[in-house]
Amino acid sequence: MTAIERDAPVVILTGAGISKESGLHTFRDADGIWATVRIEDVATPAAFARDPARVQAFYNTRRSGLLDPAIRPNAAHVALARLERDWPGGVLLVTQNIDDLHERAGSRNLRHMHGELLKARCVDCGAEPAWRVDLAPDSRCADCGSTGTLRPHVVWFGEMPLFMVEIYAALKRCGLFVSIGTSGNVYPAAGFVAEARAAGARTVELNLEPSQGATLFEESDYGPATEIVPAFVERLLRR
Ligand code: APR
Repeated sequence: MTAIERDAPVVILTGAGISKESGLHTFRDADGIWATVRIEDVATPAAFARDPARVQAFYNTRRSGLLDPAIRPNAAHVALARLERDWPGGVLLVTQNIDDLHERAGSRNLRHMHGELLKARCVDCGAEPAWRVDLAPDSRCADCGSTGTLRPHVVWFGEMPLFMVEIYAALKRCGLFVSIGTSGNVYPAAGFVAEARAAGARTVELNLEPSQGATLFEESDYGPATEIVPAFVERLLRR
């Protein structure tokens, strides 16, 4: 791998592929979530307005699945937590994933740009209470009394991802950008590699197979995340 100064800030972007070997489904693989349910039915503001019970049932199933004791962080999550601890230049981990496997592995400087499955959000006051049980159309916000409707704290198609100002600022000053386990289908995340390159950063893709934007990266390694991510972190820290 090309030289990276050890004081260079690193930005990592992760997607569903990093959690696949922990037992969670990706979205666009043959056995992915969008092969069994339509985005328009469960992951848009219009779907929630039309049929909140259906949308909440979809996320209730995913939330209880995430809380199954068999679902645990894998070696790729653990390696990224190690990188955050040991890399002198600092690491910002940006994830499109709504699971909490990065936190459980020990990552702390982490931004969930598509929200978090283990939080609800009040559509009236914006409170984001921790939420580990099922949501129902009549679930109400404790922060604004009995009036506020709660929705999953998930960014749906057509909504603005979270932390964008901070993420673009980090991309502008990073020395290394690494994209892991994402198909590069969904913007704005799919555009981060171009931002980082424009700012002069080295760019690396780690994925099971070349993503949609694979040619935009200077370096790449393809294989299961539990193998290629720990190996990449080891190489980076040993240099
Ligand atoms: N190791 C590494 N990569 C893997 C593995 C694995 N074990 N298994 C699958 N992958 C790769 C796939 O090859 C694919 O390129 O992970 C990628 C997953 O792509 P998607 O299913 O499209 O998931 P993601 O890119 O995270 O989706 C982005 O789309 O629907 C939305 O909001 C949702 O955050 C999500 C966004």
